[in-house]
Amino acid sequence: MASTGWFSKRMSSQFTNQIAFVQGASRGIGFALVDRLLARGARVYASCREPEQADQLQALAAQNDALRVVRLNVEDEATVEQAARYVADQVDRVHLLMNVAGLLHDGALKPEKKLSMVEPAHLHRVFAVNAFGPLLVAKHFSHLLIHDEPAVLANLSARVGSIGDNRLGGWYAYRASKAAQNMFTANLAIELARRGKNLSVIALHPGTVETDLSAPFRARVPSERLFDVCRAADQLLAIVDRTTPEHTGRFYAWDGSEIPW
Ligand SMILES: NC(=O)c1ccc[n+]([C@@H]2O[C@H](COP(=O)([O-])OP(=O)(O)OC[C@H]3O[C@@H](n4cnc5c(N)ncnc54)[C@H](OP(=O)(O)O)[C@@H]3O)[C@@H](O)[C@H]2O)c1
Repeated sequence: MASTGWFSKRMSSQFTNQIAFVQGASRGIGFALVDRLLARGARVYASCREPEQADQLQALAAQNDALRVVRLNVEDEATVEQAARYVADQVDRVHLLMNVAGLLHDGALKPEKKLSMVEPAHLHRVFAVNAFGPLLVAKHFSHLLIHDEPAVLANLSARVGSIGDNRLGGWYAYRASKAAQNMFTANLAIELARRGKNLSVIALHPGTVETDLSAPFRARVPSERLFDVCRAADQLLAIVDRTTPEHTGRFYAWDGSEIPW
């Protein structure tokens, strides 16, 4: 990926005028992205399911006027619509929207090691969060991303969602939900390119990151391939940094290498 650096130029000069929306910011990579974007001088809207319980996000907001915490549950479209209306009442554009919320395990919901573990209710929920969520956010926020300045819509995907890269199998719900998300990203890139020539739509794989999501599955990941959330956020923002409309509709790993769909 060639370096053009519009985002970093803006960050180093007048990034105070840049507006970011981070969807899924209560913890993990989403929270770190909010923290790094604020440090770069952006104005940030950070969404989470339960703002009252998002203690670290609220603590950050209490110290920083540039941060607004917004309620948004991707499993409830009305909250997505309300969040978009709240943002649109305050600003006429967003320069960076990152869909971060994701689900791999939750109590009895666990990634399937084999076919007999597949549960329809789990498939529905994982697809609702990982695939339908980013699409619904795009549906309600796209008008804020189409304007006369560069903008990026980045969906947090996962390498295991690549059909071309699948050599191990397993993890039916998570893999397939990220594959579906990838198709939505590719579709959005095509449709939104017709509506706005300054918008880039990309999928991103953050690598293996030390969060609740990866905790049960990272014992065998070598330390040099396991990132803390700050490093992961910086790596993802470095890719966003280099993203221009010529990159729209592509899937990038944390190091900027392209992943096959
Ligand atoms: N960590 C990794 O190694 C890794 C690797 C590849 C891809 N990824 C992807 O990176 C993204 C971030 O992962 P992470 O590791 O930071 O995960 P995490 O620490 O488990 O955080 C998940 C986030 O998603 C939010 N969320 C879950 N369901 C939601 C819903 N219905 N509506 C809104 N928000 C919801 C959670 O909010 P609550 O606090 O309310 O639960 C939380 O903020 C995910 O899309 C994941 O698939 C991560």
